[in-house]
Amino acid sequence: MIYNLGSINIDHFYRVAHLPAPGETLAASAYHTGLGGKGANQSTAAAKAGARVAHVGAVGPDGRWAIDRLAGWGVDTTHIVQLDTPSGHAIINVDQAAENTIILYPGANRALGWAQVEQALNKAAPADTLILQNETAHQAEAAALAHAKGLRVIYSAAPFDADAVRAVLKHVTTLVLNAVEAEQLCAALGQTLDAIDVPELLVTRGADGAEWRARTGKRAFAPALKVTPVDTTGAGDTFAGYFAAGRDKGLSPQDALDWAAAAAALKVTRHGTADAIPTAAEVAAFRAQCR
Ligand code: RIB
Repeated sequence: MIYNLGSINIDHFYRVAHLPAPGETLAASAYHTGLGGKGANQSTAAAKAGARVAHVGAVGPDGRWAIDRLAGWGVDTTHIVQLDTPSGHAIINVDQAAENTIILYPGANRALGWAQVEQALNKAAPADTLILQNETAHQAEAAALAHAKGLRVIYSAAPFDADAVRAVLKHVTTLVLNAVEAEQLCAALGQTLDAIDVPELLVTRGADGAEWRARTGKRAFAPALKVTPVDTTGAGDTFAGYFAAGRDKGLSPQDALDWAAAAAALKVTRHGTADAIPTAAEVAAFRAQCR
C-alpha cells in the first residue's frame, strides 16, 4: 500500500510559441484545464500502475471534482479533506519545445492539518510506502513518523527548497531529484551528489536517462526512450509514481526504473498532467512497440 501526502492542483495550461520574457504579453494558441499537483500526479501514476494508493491531502470548496477524478482512477480518497481555503492551482505555460514554466498557488494544500496526516499514517504498516513532495504541509513530521513505523519513504524534493529537503532528509529511504534539483541540492549542502548520504538516490535526467544508487554501492541506470515530446509537465511525477508502484510490488530497482522510464517517456508525448498519465496497459504496449 502506498500513502501519498500530496498536493492537488487545478492545472491551467497555456500553449505558447515561446516562454514569456519579463514584461512581455503573449497570446496562447490553446488553453485547457485538468487535474494536477505533483502529489495528485504521483498518486495517479501509482494507481494507474496498479498499486493501492491512499492520497492524503486537501482541496477547497471548488475541489470536489478533483477528489472524484482521483477516486475514478482507483485512488483511496478517504484522507482528502475539503477546506474553506480555495484549492491549489497552477498556471502552466508550455512552449513548442515541450518545456514549461509553472506558477503555483498552494491554497488548500498548505492549509492541511497535521491531525489528518497522522490519522492516515496511523493506519500504515511497515510493508507500506509513504511518498511525498514539497507542495503540502507537514512533510518532515510525516516522513519522521513513517520512518519510525518502518515504512519506505520516497521523497521528491520538488519544487526545490533547501530547508524543506534538510528537514526531511534523515527520514528518507529514496531521495528523488531531477538534474536541476540535484545541482541545487549539491550547492545548498556544499557536497557532491555521491557524498549525499541517503539509503537510495534516484536522479532523473530527461533525455539523458535516469540513475539509481544505493548506499550499499548497488547501481542501476535506465536510458530514456526516444520519443517526440509535446509536453514534459508531470513527467517527473509519472516517473516517481511508477517507480514507487514498482518497488511496492517487489520489482528490483532496475526493473522499477525501466518501467518508470517508459511511463514517463509515454507521458511526454501527451498534453496535460494527471489526465495524460498512461495506464500500465498503455505502458506495456508502448514498451513492446519500442523493442
Ligand atoms: O510537476 C507538474 C505539476 O507541478 C503540475 O501538475 C502542477 O500542478 C505543479 O504542481
